[in-house]
Amino acid sequence: MDPAKLKAATTYNAAADHFDDGPLAFWDRYGRRTIERLQLKPGSVVLDVGCGSGASAIPAGKIVGPDGRVIGVDLAERLLAMARAKATAQKLENIEFRQADMETLGYPDASFDAVVCVFAIFFVPDMVKQVKELWRMVRPGGQHAIATWGLRMFEPGSAAWWAAVKQFRPDLHAAFNPWERIVTPQSVSQLLTDSGIREAEITAEDARQVLQSPDDWWTVVQGSGYRWTLEQMDDETIARVRDMNLETLRNHDTRSIETNVIYATATKT
Ligand SMILES: C[S@@+](CC[C@H](N)C(=O)[O-])C[C@H]1O[C@@H](n2cnc3c(N)ncnc32)[C@H](O)[C@@H]1O
Repeated sequence: MDPAKLKAATTYNAAADHFDDGPLAFWDRYGRRTIERLQLKPGSVVLDVGCGSGASAIPAGKIVGPDGRVIGVDLAERLLAMARAKATAQKLENIEFRQADMETLGYPDASFDAVVCVFAIFFVPDMVKQVKELWRMVRPGGQHAIATWGLRMFEPGSAAWWAAVKQFRPDLHAAFNPWERIVTPQSVSQLLTDSGIREAEITAEDARQVLQSPDDWWTVVQGSGYRWTLEQMDDETIARVRDMNLETLRNHDTRSIETNVIYATATKT
């Protein structure tokens, strides 16, 4: 596996132990809202790439019903196992969760009524090539939806986290964070235009995730992309980073973090 994919798979397999915890309810919320923005119908066939633990695939499966079908693909087998368990618990037999790389799916042209990618497009080095590839698989009249993080993801938790990382592991501080590649409606719009999608509806939605306590923030760190940075640290360093990070949040009486989202939806004519 190439290093970027190994990094994504390692991060999210590790994060699986907290990915579905309460303070990370935003995965389910934005997955569901991305699906609500589409015109899915009973019988529709949907592809969800970077599907994680099923935040968008499961609501899609409910709408398309037994005559429809959803294929969810992800690199992280542990998240896929959680997704399968949730689908089974909800008696959804129309969703197939596959371990696969979204860059090499190769389904025929026009295979899907909708192709969905929530918080995952930025992991692929060539985003334009990837969006072209996803668009190719949308049938005429079908739809493509992308969701990405907006500006100030997880602030002020994020700034306090990176300050603590800088203090104890400065070598990890300036690391490349894929989700920072595309954080404005303009950049999402440009990505779609560069990919040959002429008309798209782009909506930026500012929102917050409530934290019941500073500990909730640490759950977010463990269940999100920050897990990669944590995985590079020994236990003693993790404890120091955690203490400094949470003390900052306590001192500022932080009760929520920003979870701003950008949704893009396009219909193929
Ligand atoms: C931030 S998570 C979002 C998961 C889910 N869409 C959600 O919103 O809850 C990003 C997901 O993209 C997956 N991913 C990253 N690169 C991928 C690739 N090349 N092919 C398939 N999945 C990939 C990761 O394994 C991870 O599960």
